[in-house]
Amino acid sequence: MLVGVASSAASANDPILEHDVLPLLQKRCMGCHGGLIQKGKLDLRTLPSMLKGGKSGPAVVAGKLDDSELWQQVIDNDMPSEGEPLSADEKQLLRKWIESGLPTWTQRKDKRDNPLLPADKKHEPARVAQAIDQHIDAALKAANVKPAPVADDAEFLRRVYLDLTGRVPTPQQAASFLDDQSPGKRAKLIDTLLASPQFGEQFGRTWREWIAPPELPSDMNSGRQPIEQTRALGKWFAKQFNDNHTWDRIVRDVLTANGELKNNPQLIYFGLVGQNAQVTAEGSARTVASLFMGVQLQCAQCHDDPYRDWAQHEFWALAAFFGGTRGDFKKVEEKPGESQIVIPKSAFRNAGTKVQISFLRGPTPKDKKATWRPRFVDWLTANDNPYFAKAFSNRAWFYFFSRGIVNPIDDFRELNPPSHPGLIALLGNEFAASGHDVKHLIRAICNSKTYQRTSAVTHDLNDQQRAAQTALFGRAPVRVMSPDMLFDSLKLAFGDPKLDLRSIDPKDGNTNGESAAVGDVVLQFQRDFCINEEDTTDFTHGIPQMLTLMNHPRLQAGSKALDEHLKQQKDLTPPQVVEWLYLATLSRRPSDEESAEAVDYVKNASDAIDAYKDVLWMLVNRSEFMLIR
Ligand code: HEC
Ligand code: HEC
Repeated sequence: MLVGVASSAASANDPILEHDVLPLLQKRCMGCHGGLIQKGKLDLRTLPSMLKGGKSGPAVVAGKLDDSELWQQVIDNDMPSEGEPLSADEKQLLRKWIESGLPTWTQRKDKRDNPLLPADKKHEPARVAQAIDQHIDAALKAANVKPAPVADDAEFLRRVYLDLTGRVPTPQQAASFLDDQSPGKRAKLIDTLLASPQFGEQFGRTWREWIAPPELPSDMNSGRQPIEQTRALGKWFAKQFNDNHTWDRIVRDVLTANGELKNNPQLIYFGLVGQNAQVTAEGSARTVASLFMGVQLQCAQCHDDPYRDWAQHEFWALAAFFGGTRGDFKKVEEKPGESQIVIPKSAFRNAGTKVQISFLRGPTPKDKKATWRPRFVDWLTANDNPYFAKAFSNRAWFYFFSRGIVNPIDDFRELNPPSHPGLIALLGNEFAASGHDVKHLIRAICNSKTYQRTSAVTHDLNDQQRAAQTALFGRAPVRVMSPDMLFDSLKLAFGDPKLDLRSIDPKDGNTNGESAAVGDVVLQFQRDFCINEEDTTDFTHGIPQMLTLMNHPRLQAGSKALDEHLKQQKDLTPPQVVEWLYLATLSRRPSDEESAEAVDYVKNASDAIDAYKDVLWMLVNRSEFMLIR
């Protein structure tokens, strides 16, 4: 904690260490004054290290420009010693920060870190949802930004189906929700979807993707990608979620498993995150930190992190828990191991040094020899673990909103504060108090007004207000469907579970031009329609994807679902069929204008069935179809 350093002169507009000063120093200074290189013995990564300063004394002194070596170097353009000098604005920022007493986020009084609900017990989802909204609304109000209104039923319906089941609703499901007049129908639908097997499937494949993205053969494994085994991992996760296993139990089953892959599909995790198809302590440590603790340790493997306050020995102290675990894509085995690990040659600095096993910024186990993975998981999944519950909650939030409360989602640390501290505390508390009940957390988020707001841009806001509204979760983000979601939604609309959209001529190869076309229909689609996992609002689909959807003969050949519908219901009028097509694709009814236009087209066509196929083709080719709005 950095409390007590700054003077009380700080006001709300002063620059803040974490938000304003560190990003500037990281960009312009830490390459020479960070964890790896410390010119003049100066480390600018943290406030204590700045106060300690370098060869010439403290880099900064609260309220005293003349005594602050950093200011002296910057004002004369002596620093940075290479590249452009700092701009007038950047200098002004540093000056104000020093003059106002080096304010930090940690000591601010208005930071709203009260979670609003007591931490010691689980609450009703509706109560948690209400608390979520209080957090979000308070921050919007403080920034003087109006939130967007709540979405209408159709927008909510499509979003919640895609988010919770990974596909659009069928026309029947859509119509029955839209026509339902009962007041609690949204909460009821959320419950129904959480109870469906597609829920586990969707969250299982999402975790599969977070562990091993399918787009590219894994470099870590020199191009070897165990596709079937990775899919089996996704299915394994799906079953755990559908069986309501708690997150601590799931993670324990992944991280402590031993034996042969054929009996334990989750074991592929260790091989996937290893190197050259071998399990490695550093691969396990790096990904366990990122996926289950929300901590980026990867830059501390070979040297101290140049920008963050993580030391190389902290990385290896964590890696030591995985030092006794050996294996490959076929089996994994842990033998009782030493409480020390030797930094290998591949780690560049300090190779050969012995590092004592230790929990990250936590206690050091006493035993000299043990089976370490279960010990690690005991610590990780304990209710008072500082990382575990918050990391999952933040990832869940990111899944729905495309941005974490802590950003990036695996960069929890004191100097990277959350946008809504009380909210991340609330979600973490609630998740821990519920025994890490995944559906409980998700039910609470989906029942919030925050989740149910429209994504439509309201025109009474200027650009700045609109950006603030998005940043503060005052409007739902528009996201791009994951490849799995898009493929499943197309399969539904075309009534074809075996839909194959690979290039017809194998010579055409992969439309991304990155690697050779693969024989696997699903993998090819996943690669062709891959999205930016770190920012799902980033529309990555370009001409190749558009051309596939527009030109692929399979999508012009009509829909078995439509044929079936027309066969079952003989006397449908053109407006009824058009409505059905809209429900099957965009999960909403057409506007009067849209309906009239399509009906007109059908009536003027020589063959009505062909015309309906054209309407379907037109609908799946709208950007609206591939977006989660
Ligand atoms: C390209 C490398 C490089 C960059 C970038 C750089 N510095 Fe330096 N810095 C140096 C060197 C070299 C020294 C002098 C060390 C010596 O004299 O022993 C130094 C010295 C300093 C000192 C004096 C340390 C002491 O106690 O003697 C301060 C303060 C300082 N730099 C601040 C900054 C700030 C602030 C930035 C970013 C705006 C920055 N530096 C960017 C290389 C760099
Ligand atoms: C597998 C080992 C390894 C990992 C992991 C690693 N580095 Fe490095 N890094 C090195 C080596 C080796 C050097 C070269 C050091 C030297 O030449 O003194 C280096 C140098 C650097 C430098 C200094 C470059 C220069 O010479 O100015 C920076 C900055 C850096 N790394 C950042 C990072 C960041 C950020 C990460 C995490 C994303 C990272 N490193 C992860 C091995 C690694």
